[in-house]
Formats: sequence, structure tokens, C-alpha cells
Amino acid sequence: MITLVVNGEKRSLDVDSDTPLLWVLRDELNLKGTKFGCGAGLCGACTVHVGGTPTRACQTPVEAVNGQEITTIEGLSKNGELHPLQQAWVEHGVPQCGYCQSGQIMTAAHLLEQNPSPSEDDIVNAMAGNLCRCGTYHRIVEAVKSASST
Ligand code: FES
Ligand code: FES
Repeated sequence: MITLVVNGEKRSLDVDSDTPLLWVLRDELNLKGTKFGCGAGLCGACTVHVGGTPTRACQTPVEAVNGQEITTIEGLSKNGELHPLQQAWVEHGVPQCGYCQSGQIMTAAHLLEQNPSPSEDDIVNAMAGNLCRCGTYHRIVEAVKSASST
């Protein structure tokens, strides 16, 4: 039995211990906001926070995070209020197809937790591991800037 705290809620799961966290979130917990992109740790589409740290859910066996706190894109807003990044994403019209965007936002959320006033270089470097086949990179940088405290 695996126990996770997902978006603040304790969940006990009877799954194979080597099941990737991504499939537990999507198929067992019906949290479809976290996406399967490459399945090889290369694109960042599956990024969630494990204990506050951005983590590639496609490469993480669920047993490796047993007992830990997981935050997905569905858990980023609080009390019905969009996270400032989500608001900025809307204001800047960031997504194109949208597929990569939950992973992008989870990576950006960690950046702003670590560095509330990042420079443009800080943003570009922090986001470098999240790929977007639609090329929304410029709008991502602008949205992170506007959600930051500068
Ligand atoms: S789907 Fe996990 S890194 Fe691409
Ligand atoms: S918006 Fe289409 S892959 Fe990023």
C-alpha cells in the first residue's frame, strides 16, 4: 500500500510499487492536468512538486515518493483563487496547444518560491528544461516576470 498526500489530501493506493507517479496521478487519482510528453525525463510536461521540489512524474516510481507531499497543477490555486502565475498565464495568453503548460507553470512556481524577483536570465535558466513544441517561450518569460514581485 502506498500513501501520498496529494494537493493536501491523504490518499492510500493499492498500486504496483514501480508504477510511475504520473500514471498514479492520472489513472488512479483522475488528475489529468499533469501530462505525458516524452516519458523519458526530457520534456518537463509531467512536472509536479514532490515535497516542494519540481519532479518529473514520468520518471518517478511511486514507491520513491511514498509518504510524501505531492502538488499538481490542480493544487496550485488556493481557496478558489488562481495562483498569480495562472493569472499571468491568462493575461498574457501564454498557451498555444496547452500541452506543456501545466509543467511549465509548476516549474515557474518553484522558481518564484525560491526567487520572488528573478531576472530574465534567471527565468530563462529555470525554465530551460521545460520544452514547448509550440514555441511559447517568450510569453512564458513575460508571464513569469509579471507574476514576480518586481
Ligand atoms: S513526460 Fe516526463 S519529462 Fe517528458
Ligand atoms: S503550448 Fe503547445 S507544447 Fe507548449
